[in-house]
Amino acid sequence: MKIFVPKETNNEKRVAASPDTVKKFIDLGHSVVIETGAGASSNYGDNHYSEAGASIASEASSADIILKVGKPSLEEITTYKTGSILIAMLDPFNNRELIDQMRNKDIIAFAMELMPRITRAQSMDVLSSQSNLAGYKAVIQASNSFNKAMPMMMTAAGTIAPAKVMVFGAGVAGLQAIATAKRLGAVVSATDVRLAAKEQVESLGGKFVIIESDELKDAETAGGYAKEMSEDFKKQQAELIASTLANQDIAICTALIPGKKAPILITEKNIMTMKPGSIIIDLAAQSGGNCELSKPGETIEVNGVSIIGATDFASDIPQDASALYAKNLLNFLAILFDKETGELNIDWEDEIIINTALTKEGAFIHKEFI
Ligand code: NAI
Repeated sequence: MKIFVPKETNNEKRVAASPDTVKKFIDLGHSVVIETGAGASSNYGDNHYSEAGASIASEASSADIILKVGKPSLEEITTYKTGSILIAMLDPFNNRELIDQMRNKDIIAFAMELMPRITRAQSMDVLSSQSNLAGYKAVIQASNSFNKAMPMMMTAAGTIAPAKVMVFGAGVAGLQAIATAKRLGAVVSATDVRLAAKEQVESLGGKFVIIESDELKDAETAGGYAKEMSEDFKKQQAELIASTLANQDIAICTALIPGKKAPILITEKNIMTMKPGSIIIDLAAQSGGNCELSKPGETIEVNGVSIIGATDFASDIPQDASALYAKNLLNFLAILFDKETGELNIDWEDEIIINTALTKEGAFIHKEFI
């Protein structure tokens, strides 16, 4: 089949295929067309793709499969062939018009961010691969904006105390943030509502901070995600945060609840207790933010505290982010084809397909759209 990888738009620096995955697609019998300059921000030149066997052109209209990072524009969709397959992070619940357009154009659309959290899907999980890098980048960005050093330093001129970093939410991004902050020599603590996170935080050398509550026994869904907590729990958690945050230098916010607004964990009142020069990096900014004042894509300063409303840190490490994302797509494509014959053979009953497929043959097929 003919696979097309366009150059991304909207300042997206990543690309949906690497020379490595292009070579694998060609070995599997597909042809690959890469749009000129698609990999430039990831340091993949057109020549690298050509050497891997791709041709360089702009050919969405003849492609059977289109691989993208971000969602296409309404206009882009008009150039896609009827019946073609689109695989990308489509943010479907915030882009109804786009999904309608895909249905009308008879496109088979897969939203990669809806990948179920099951063992078999781990190698296709774009949220995991990208959150991991975002958690790392959050700490690097924080240390860059911080006017002090991260590790303890004993010098002849005096001792510098290590930075204190608190991580909110110890999922994929949070655990990587903890590990990175520890490597830089900070004293790290973290909080989460899933008790399973305690052991993971401690194994990375972080201190787990949590309130005692029976509600925690039931805070995790069968899919491994957090549930929204009761008002009483939120009040107790707010008191705990108020007493710990005042002593921190850096807060890294990663707490999310799938399908809901992110929980507010740092209020304006908390910020007023923080030391000037402290940094808050809010990776949840796009979902409403864990910090009440954060603004997506902006850095603001309140009471001497910098609040960075991160939107897509993974895109700021484009080469590694693209390599992992491309690998996720390669692994996903593998389940769409029959291993013996190499023919397209989508199992519409497969849990991975049920969760990620949005439209097919001019109709909605995802449960949230039917
Ligand atoms: P996420 O991005 O949805 O949320 C980040 C973290 O915030 C979670 O740990 C969550 O418990 C925490 N959180 C939510 N509300 C909070 C609150 N009020 N206060 C403090 N923390 C709060 O989660 P992520 O990173 O996607 O991971 C969720 C789970 O899924 C983890 O157990 C992870 O190991 C698992 N997972 C499984 C995969 C697989 O099996 N394919 C792939 C990726 C993750």
